[in-house]
Amino acid sequence: MGRLIVLKLGGSIITNKREPFSFNRDVVLRIGKELKSSWPAPLVIVHGGGSFGHPIAEAYEIKKGYQRAEQLKGFVETVSAMRRLNDLVVSTLSDANLPVIGIPPSCTVTTNNGDIETCNFDPIFSAMEIGLVPVMYGDAVFDRKLKFTILSGDTLASYIAMRLKAKQLIFAVDVDGVYGFDRETSRRFLIEELTERVHMNIKYEPTEGDVTGGMFYKVEEALAAARHGVDVYIINGLVPGRIEAVIKGQKVVGTRVKVT
Ligand code: IPE
Repeated sequence: MGRLIVLKLGGSIITNKREPFSFNRDVVLRIGKELKSSWPAPLVIVHGGGSFGHPIAEAYEIKKGYQRAEQLKGFVETVSAMRRLNDLVVSTLSDANLPVIGIPPSCTVTTNNGDIETCNFDPIFSAMEIGLVPVMYGDAVFDRKLKFTILSGDTLASYIAMRLKAKQLIFAVDVDGVYGFDRETSRRFLIEELTERVHMNIKYEPTEGDVTGGMFYKVEEALAAARHGVDVYIINGLVPGRIEAVIKGQKVVGTRVKVT
């Protein structure tokens, strides 16, 4: 799969994180049009949970796994909220004339203590073989040890990129990339090339309302994929043209994650 592109659409761009169940249709439609015009094939899209997945997962402590019976309601509700969001993403991308199909991770992926243990690639391959773009997402999934947990879209996107030896993994987020802080000038600056060493020295700000850990864990997943030879970028998906440009191999404002 030397040409495969995996695109993770952050929950912060496809939903309004401050308002429960608010879908940013305009953003997703515009991204769909950009993808249509750059038409990278094959492509796998993974999206985040944003204001559909995180609030319920947080309220019921789904990531920690099964502790009490009342959490079952939260587990099931997280799965349904994410299906609703996936339906919205899929129908919007389809309005942009992308041939997309939603594939729910709750039925295709299981984890063991939070790490992906099994992933059924059959529906993913079968979809791609006939020219469909699989659209997966961060989800509540069954876990061998914890009984259930939250699988982040970042982990899933990086896993797919590594297993399928993707060419590119793109994280589209609501900021220009990863920022460093210059103590001398007290200024934040965009890190254009992020290596393991730079990552160790960054003080990441905690991200509120995010049960899967924000930018620190995103960079961890990005580095894991980079170690497997995938070209990884963290870019701003809210700025028109950036996703299209990075796919076309053009220079774009953002952070490129590299091993050395
Ligand atoms: C989280 O996925 C999924 C759930 C909370 C169910 P992500 O961690 O990938 O979501 P975002 O991109 O941060 O919103």
